[in-house]
Amino acid sequence: MGLKNLTKGEQIMALPEISLAPLAKLTSPSAAFIPFFQFESVESEGKRKDRKDTPSFEMPIPAGKRMKEWPALEAYLKDAQCFSGRKNESLLLRTYRFGTAPNVAFIGLGKKSILETDTVRQTGASVYQAQKREKLKEVTLDIQSVLSAFRESKKLTAFQAFCEGYLLASYEYLEFKKTETGVFYPKGIELVSVKGKDYEKALERAKGLVEAIFLTRSLGDKPGNALTPKELSRICQEMAKASGLQCQVLGRKEMEKEGMGLLLGVAQGSIEEPQMIVLEHKGGRKTDRPFVVIGKGVTFDSGGISLKPADRMEEMKYDMMGAATVAGILQMCAKLKVPVNVTGYIGAVENMPGGKAQKPGDIQRSVTGKTVEITNTDAEGRLVLADVIEYAQKQNPQAIIDFATLTGAVVVALGTVTTGIMGTHKGLIGLIKAASEATDERVWELPLYEEYEEDLKSHYADIRNSGGREAGSQKGGTFLKFFVDKKIPWVHFDIAGSAYHRKDRNYFSPKHGAGVMIRLMAHLLQHWKALK
Ligand code: BES
Ligand code: MN
Ligand code: ZN
Repeated sequence: MGLKNLTKGEQIMALPEISLAPLAKLTSPSAAFIPFFQFESVESEGKRKDRKDTPSFEMPIPAGKRMKEWPALEAYLKDAQCFSGRKNESLLLRTYRFGTAPNVAFIGLGKKSILETDTVRQTGASVYQAQKREKLKEVTLDIQSVLSAFRESKKLTAFQAFCEGYLLASYEYLEFKKTETGVFYPKGIELVSVKGKDYEKALERAKGLVEAIFLTRSLGDKPGNALTPKELSRICQEMAKASGLQCQVLGRKEMEKEGMGLLLGVAQGSIEEPQMIVLEHKGGRKTDRPFVVIGKGVTFDSGGISLKPADRMEEMKYDMMGAATVAGILQMCAKLKVPVNVTGYIGAVENMPGGKAQKPGDIQRSVTGKTVEITNTDAEGRLVLADVIEYAQKQNPQAIIDFATLTGAVVVALGTVTTGIMGTHKGLIGLIKAASEATDERVWELPLYEEYEEDLKSHYADIRNSGGREAGSQKGGTFLKFFVDKKIPWVHFDIAGSAYHRKDRNYFSPKHGAGVMIRLMAHLLQHWKALK
C-alpha cells in the first residue's frame, strides 16, 4: 500500500482495499481463504476427558455451503491433520490449487455455537495478518459462508465487523522509523457473494470508522517531544479543515481571561504553552443543544513535583488518549454525517516539574471560582478536565461525556480489556451500555457513591484533588462530578487501561494506541434521541 503523506512530518498508512463481488472476479488472486468452524462434540467436555482411547483427529467444518472441492480437501486434512479451525488459526497451503487461485489458505472461526460478531472482527484481522506474513498480494474470500451462520438481522453487522478487523490490522506507526526495504504490504481482499447498497454502505462506514481510529492511534503513538499541546492543536486544526469541522483554539492568554486556574496550574511547570481546542460538528438542527465530548490531553505526564517513578514513565506519552479519542470522534462525526450537533473540547497541557511548577499544598481556582487544594500534582487530569467541563457548560449541552486516562487504579480494577465508566444519569449510562453491546467495545460501570466525597474534603479549600488509594477511579470520578452542573447528564470514561498497548485482541497492537470508544460513540450518536 505504501505511505501517504497527510500532514507535515506524519505518515499515515493508506488503507488496504476491500472490494465486493457478487461472484469471484479476481482473475489471479494470490490465494483463496476458506473459513472453517472447529469440530464440536455432542459429548460433554467431562465425558470426553474421561475417555481413555486417544481422540481421533477432529475434522474442522467448512463454514457455509459445501463446495465441490470439499471431498479432496477433507481427504488432505484427514491425512495431514494440520488444521483444526480454532479461532484465529490460519494455515496457507502453497501450491494447492483452489479454483482460479494458486494457493489455498484456511482460517479458523472457532466453535459455531459461540460465534459472535467480534469473532468475525478478529477473523478479518487474522486474514490480513496471514496475508502480510505470507506475502499474499490480493486474496479472495467467500464472506457469505461466514455470514450464513448469523441471523438475517445480524448479517450486515457481522460483515461490517469483518471489514473493521481487516482494516484495523493494517495499522503501523513509522513516523520515526526508516522503512526497511522490501517490506510487504498486502494490496487488498475481494469479498465474494455480497452485493447491494447496504453492504457498500457498511463497507464505507467501516472505512470511516477506521480512518478516525487511526488518527487517534497515531496521535497517541507520537512521543511527547513531537506531540506538544501546540502540535496537537495544529493537527486538530488541519483535520478540521480537511473534514469540514469548525475549530477554535485558546492559548494561555485566553484561558487566563476565562479564569481556568486549574488547567493553568498544571501547565505552570512546563515551558510548553497549554491549549484548549474546540472542535464543532453541526449535524443536527440549528436550535439543538450540542452533545459535548471532552478529552484529557496531557501530552506527557511526569507527575509534576509529585514525580512518578522512572519505571515505564515513557508510557505517559499516551496520557493524551482522551484528547485523541475526542479528535477521532469528531472526524468520525464528519465522515459518517452523524445527525447531531457535537462539540469536542480538548484540554492540552504538559505536566512537568519545572521551576514554576505548582506544589503540593497550592490552592487553585476554577472557571466558576471553586477552589482546589492540590495535594498531589500527579492527579492532574481531573484538574484539566474540571476547568474544561465548567467552560463547556456555558454552551448548555444536552449531555457531556469525557474521556481520560485518569487513574492507575482502573487498570488494577479492570485490566486493559474494558473501559471504566461512571456518571450521573441512568438513562445515558443505559444507552452507552447498549451501544457497547452493539459494537463489542466493552464498558464496565463503577459506582459514584456519596461516601467517596468524604476523602476529597479539604481543610483549606472547597475540595482537594486526591484522597487516598482506596477506590481511586471512583474518587477521580467523584472529583469531576463536583464540577458538573446537576442538570446536565454526564458520564466519565476512564480509558487508562483500555487506550493503548492491548494484547487481548488481534485488531489492536501491543505496542500502539488502540483507539477505543470511537465505534461505540458512532453507534450512540447515530441512534441518538433526546434524553428524558
Ligand atoms: N495519567 C495518570 C493515570 C495513569 C496511570 C494512566 C497509569 C495510565 C496508566 C494520572 O494522571 C495519574 O497519575 N493518576 C494518579 C492519581 C492519584 C495521584 C490520585 C494515579 O492513578 O496514581
Ligand atoms: Mn498524573
Ligand atoms: Zn495523567
